[in-house]
Amino acid sequence: MAYTPSTYNPYDFANRRHIGPSPEEMDAMLAVIGAPSLDALIDETVPMGIRQMEPLNWAPMTEHEVLGHIRKVAKQNVVMTSLIGQGFYGTVTPPAIQRNILENPAWYTAYTPYQPEIAQGRLEALLNFQTMVSDMTGLPVANASLLDEATACAEAMTMAQRVSKSKMTRFFVDENCHPQNIAVMQTRAAPLGIEIVMGDPRDLDPAKVFGAIFQYPGTYGVVTDFTPQIAALHEAKAVAIMATDLMALTLLKDPGAMDADIAVGSAQRFGVPMGFGGPHAAFMSCKDEMKRAMPGRIVGVSVDAAGNRAYRLSLQTREQHIRREKATSNVCTAQALLAVMASFYAVFHGPAGLRAIGEMIHFNAVRLAEGLKSAGFKIAPAAFYDTFTVEVGAMQGVILRSAMAEGINLRKVGTDKIGISVDELTSPEIIAQVWRAFGSDAEVPGGFPGLGVPEKMLRKSSYLSHPIFGMNRAEGEMMRYMRRLADRDLALDRAMIPLGSCTMKLNAAVEMMPITWPEFNAIHPFAPEDQSEGYAFMIKDLADKLCDITGYDAMSMQPNSGAQGEYAGLLTIMAYHRANGQGGRNICLIPMSAHGTNPASAQMVGLKVVVVNTAANGDIDLEDFRAKAEAAGDKLAACMITYPSTHGVFEETVKEVCQITHDHGGQVYLDGANLNALVGLAKPGDIGSDVSHLNLHKTFCIPHGGGGPGMGPIGVKAHLERFLPGHPETGGETGPVSAAPYGSASILPISWAYCMLMGGAGLTQATKVAILNANYIAARLDAAFPVLYKGKQGRVAHECIVDPRGFEKPTGVTVDDIAKRLVDSGFHAPTMSFPVPGTLMIEPTESETKAELDRFCEAMLSIRSEIAQIENGELPQDNNPLKHAPHTVNDLVAEWDRPYSREQGCFPPGSFRVDKYWPPVGRVDNAYGDRNLICLCPPPEHYIEAAD
Ligand SMILES: Cc1ncc(COP(=O)(O)O)c(C=O)c1O
Repeated sequence: MAYTPSTYNPYDFANRRHIGPSPEEMDAMLAVIGAPSLDALIDETVPMGIRQMEPLNWAPMTEHEVLGHIRKVAKQNVVMTSLIGQGFYGTVTPPAIQRNILENPAWYTAYTPYQPEIAQGRLEALLNFQTMVSDMTGLPVANASLLDEATACAEAMTMAQRVSKSKMTRFFVDENCHPQNIAVMQTRAAPLGIEIVMGDPRDLDPAKVFGAIFQYPGTYGVVTDFTPQIAALHEAKAVAIMATDLMALTLLKDPGAMDADIAVGSAQRFGVPMGFGGPHAAFMSCKDEMKRAMPGRIVGVSVDAAGNRAYRLSLQTREQHIRREKATSNVCTAQALLAVMASFYAVFHGPAGLRAIGEMIHFNAVRLAEGLKSAGFKIAPAAFYDTFTVEVGAMQGVILRSAMAEGINLRKVGTDKIGISVDELTSPEIIAQVWRAFGSDAEVPGGFPGLGVPEKMLRKSSYLSHPIFGMNRAEGEMMRYMRRLADRDLALDRAMIPLGSCTMKLNAAVEMMPITWPEFNAIHPFAPEDQSEGYAFMIKDLADKLCDITGYDAMSMQPNSGAQGEYAGLLTIMAYHRANGQGGRNICLIPMSAHGTNPASAQMVGLKVVVVNTAANGDIDLEDFRAKAEAAGDKLAACMITYPSTHGVFEETVKEVCQITHDHGGQVYLDGANLNALVGLAKPGDIGSDVSHLNLHKTFCIPHGGGGPGMGPIGVKAHLERFLPGHPETGGETGPVSAAPYGSASILPISWAYCMLMGGAGLTQATKVAILNANYIAARLDAAFPVLYKGKQGRVAHECIVDPRGFEKPTGVTVDDIAKRLVDSGFHAPTMSFPVPGTLMIEPTESETKAELDRFCEAMLSIRSEIAQIENGELPQDNNPLKHAPHTVNDLVAEWDRPYSREQGCFPPGSFRVDKYWPPVGRVDNAYGDRNLICLCPPPEHYIEAAD
């Protein structure tokens, strides 16, 4: 018999690694759905009128090829020693943190801890972060991260306006703030009618402003005690904000000691690489009386059903997804993973270690400055922590070039000064190299060089006195702590996370590898252009691919999250209207089913939100839309729609919605959160949309990191390109929305690798299978839990909403009970109560296999049987497995007086016998936590109890 060579391709990434179901499994699933083939299912689901004609056509690469290619491109970035500073500093990431957190899927594949019972590990790490920030800044309440320092400044400005008792509309900005902080605040202030007054803090007139922000230390290094200015602000009922640096605060007087109201900054230099601008965790802390006005998430301490301590997100009511009209900001995805890293950096070093690092940096800065003074240079300011400028006159260019020849980037300040910021990586060798660049070959002295700040500027308060920062620092101990916390959580490395709208797909190892290469993560965002050519190449290639996928003409990589993309996109639209003399357009139509960030972002650019009704079938009510567009007339600025809709359906009328908007002179913003249902099948830009954000942390494989990082680039049609966000470092007509020109650039290799690995056909297949998987779940569950919305031919898109509301009255079972019972089966609950209160939105993604989908369906069907047991009186309404869910080990071993067996309670279908996931706490009491708000690490005895 003739030998037949194998046709199996083990390196086919799309079909072997990324897409879950095998061809045989797909056939079986299609049979359950009742569709003759995958393509037939897609034809029944995605309206022909919006389908793209040309396929995406780039070829796939193997994992090995992609790594080789990215390596080559990475080599075009030049890794230099950066002493540029300006908010971004060299840092040592402890290898144990890199390996056990940043490179560990248990941490990076987790979702935002909305379900606290399965998120106790990351909640504890984030609570450590809050405690660290609170301690260092001397303010009692801190949040669990914001997107970057510049947006944190802007958030603080608007928060100050919310809490200020002053009626003024002006806000004072210290001229010593980092330029990108100033620029982002200016962008934010303009549409809100806030007038920014910039100047020397000594000239501040407190009676004329509702608040003021001071940078401490200043961008050129000045260290000022702002106590008098802050007192004067308070006298005038205005709010005082300090943008500060956690490392400097290891030595310097803290903002709390100056009576500041709010402190913001970046935790980057606590072990998080510069990464060409991000991602990094920004922080915010404030006085207790202002905590309810604070944006972002706050982890708090509460109790579970058994009265045991449990962590959870507190004050959720301030967020857009609960009460959108009361939302304090549009922040949704933040920087959880980076906050976790920074908190572990603090745990790793403890107060003594941090102080030693802080001193080392300061002493090296003093040494460096003294050497330059001895060489005859004038240094300013007189008091500095780590940053100063050197007057160099006409020698600026020569010295900058000599420094580069030594492998060092210094900061060009004006035409006759050079800025230097010393960091954790600055060694005596580097000091000697800098001196050489300035023409001195002196030797670097050891010993104590003296203080660079007056003693009265040193901090008096202690910090990180909580035992968590005082634990034994042996790596074994650290590793076990990180492992213990990770084991408390349920992330994608254990089970499907079927969160609708969140697209928890595979974050493949190969995609993650490049982000820790120094060629990507050790580059300063403001390094000279010729040192970041690898980045430029990657950003262009990825942008081209994303334009091809979306039908847009240009992309901005600046926004750091989806919500930030919405804000940037709306700013772009408004700049376009203004350029056309249509600046009076101020109405934004938003369907009722929109994500809460949509109206929050619209409000941030000064738009008036008009809500459009939903028709009975879940579609946008077209007649209502038309009527509201007509009523808005020449005031219509934009509409914001999501496609496919948040109801999980491809609406047939989407083109009409776009047309109506255009007919009235408005622009269409299409929220790209659901792009996972479109890639390769339809392009937003061809449907009629003008701008979209893309959540790269959904469709394009950037992991969610337990609540961030994210990337929300925006694509626009050609007429809007001119108005995309600019940046002080790279230019552009409009202001920036982020601290760095390309946002969190160092995670872009993930999405880039994904696109290259999959190829055009692989991406398209992924979309089809995402739709198949959702329809399979819908088909299996519909009889037990009605699927709320379907398309014309009875199909759902890439997600589906199941509706358990009918059970509540007869059985008392709520959507919460179902979500918590799923934990017993080893699942993270689907998205709860968005967009329809009381329902569950399930999105399996293409990455899940049939076996995992079946495990989930069996868990859901068994929940339905338990509801039936309540319906027929076998189980009481208030004492059943659903009400007691989730079950803990303590429940299992405690006295058992329940009307169902331990077996039924603890091992429902779907749960594994050997690899059973045990939630560390039972049902968490949210109301208790909000009533008794504690947002810092609880007292030490609690940890002892936990260890017991
Ligand atoms: C439909 C939709 N729009 C916008 C967003 C906001 O995106 P991000 O969390 O990245 O800010 C989300 C987030 O889940 C979403 O589901």
